[in-house]
Amino acid sequence: MKRKLVEQNVNGIRMRALIAGSGPPLLLVHGFPLNHQMWLPQIEHFQSSYTVIAPDLRGFGDSDISPGIVTMEQHARDLNALLQDFKIEDPVSYCGLSMGGYIAWEFWKHFPDRLHALILCDTRADADLEEDVNNRLKMADLVLRHGPEAISTAMIPNLISESTQQNQPHISEHLISMIEATDSEGIAASQKGMAARSDFSDLIKDIHIPTLFIVGKEDRLTPPAVMHQMSTQVPESKYFEVSDAAHMAPMEAPDLVNQAIDDFLSTHLNS
Ligand code: MLT
Repeated sequence: MKRKLVEQNVNGIRMRALIAGSGPPLLLVHGFPLNHQMWLPQIEHFQSSYTVIAPDLRGFGDSDISPGIVTMEQHARDLNALLQDFKIEDPVSYCGLSMGGYIAWEFWKHFPDRLHALILCDTRADADLEEDVNNRLKMADLVLRHGPEAISTAMIPNLISESTQQNQPHISEHLISMIEATDSEGIAASQKGMAARSDFSDLIKDIHIPTLFIVGKEDRLTPPAVMHQMSTQVPESKYFEVSDAAHMAPMEAPDLVNQAIDDFLSTHLNS
């Protein structure tokens, strides 16, 4: 199966992405503070039927960092430029997790013609409350002073369920290694960008493309109630809960998540 890591100059930085397979384009946008490797089970599964594009966002993985603040709009503009450079002209199925979902709203706002469908995993549409903003700024400061090791292990209970921690210890190890391999400046810049993100909760009712919401039943960060509420607002949407999974449902329960995405895409790509 054709699979390669490609580098492109995008909006003044060098951006790295994995491209695999052939067929309709499926864009996989990772969460915070991770990289494209969180999608390995999806890349493996979907590359037989889709052109899978899994970038490392600005400041993450092997892509360049831009210090200061990186907004969700900047990430969306980077993704659009990357698709242009890859000469992907067909509208994409955009699949984003958490921060990848915050970026999805901006991508939909600025580049609606580029979208065929949305798959939103473990995310939310509202902006931060003051307390959340303060916590993000504290975390950014901590990471800049002490490095990603200061947050990596402590993040695990919020990312994956207890059963995943016990039964699939390699997932904790992989998450910790992705977080610790991330540059502090990159983490701080997107953390500040998330703190400043726009509120899309009143706008998502205007999304008129097929949309799938996927959430781990034990997700504490973006709980099922929040995801279900969004699904009632988006007219052409479906909602899917994943058992034995929390915030990182695509890593924790890849078979269930892949099946849900397969069913959704095969219905909507042929309609
Ligand atoms: C993520 O998984 O991307 C984060 O939980 C997003 C956030 O911090 O809000």
